[in-house]
Amino acid sequence: MNRIGILGGSGFYEMKGLRHKSLRRVSTPFGNPSGEFRISEVSGSEVVFLPRHGIPHRIPPHRINYRANIWGFREMGIERIFSINAVGGITAGLTPGDIVIPDQIIDLTQGRASTFYEENDVVHIDFTDPYCTILRTIICAAAQRKGLTVKESGTYLCVNGPRLETRAEISFFAKSGADVVGMTGMPEACLARELEMCFASVLIVTNYAAGISDKKLTTTEVMENMKISTERIGSLLIESLALLPEERICACRYALSGAKM
Ligand code: HPA
Repeated sequence: MNRIGILGGSGFYEMKGLRHKSLRRVSTPFGNPSGEFRISEVSGSEVVFLPRHGIPHRIPPHRINYRANIWGFREMGIERIFSINAVGGITAGLTPGDIVIPDQIIDLTQGRASTFYEENDVVHIDFTDPYCTILRTIICAAAQRKGLTVKESGTYLCVNGPRLETRAEISFFAKSGADVVGMTGMPEACLARELEMCFASVLIVTNYAAGISDKKLTTTEVMENMKISTERIGSLLIESLALLPEERICACRYALSGAKM
């Protein structure tokens, strides 16, 4: 049976259409994950869901225990994670409601615990391509089968938050090649790589980034646009599960080989 982890973001706290089985609390050497892991089943696959901000939404991006969340998934026996993140759209043509499957990351976060190898081992994982190519391909294929338009690549720039950006920052990010900006995509992706897990993100553009439109940015807009997209994301994920081969064949499985000093 295929097993998959789903990390829910702002406004995405549950997945519809799944048969709920159980809840599990996991403790890790790095502290507690954002909440209980919800185990469900859908068409022969098991889904383990965790909302990264907790339920109700109470943990801000800079306070999320990213290590405990990713380690917790591993404790649950999960090797592949789909992550859902709300983002602000920077690149022309991106509008609220659009879905982006990013292939690159620019990480501007600071002060977040971003490695499992802090003391005894010295490990430098290859992060040239930060997301699992196979998972990304599957999501894009699932979108095609569902008739959903997705942007099949893009650069996700991760900031610390919790404040939103200035006009000048977004202009600078645009020149740096960023397509979207968010607060939670890192260090999740590199932590998953350190555990040799497959990790891919489904980004929902919930607003125009600062200065891209004249409108004042509000969290209300973010949450509303996420809510509107919830059904589409759910069906995209369920279709992706149906296309997922049982065996992992990507390089993520060997991320640690040649990475340790
Ligand atoms: N900036 C940063 N993070 C975000 C945004 C944004 O505009 N929208 C959703 N998450």
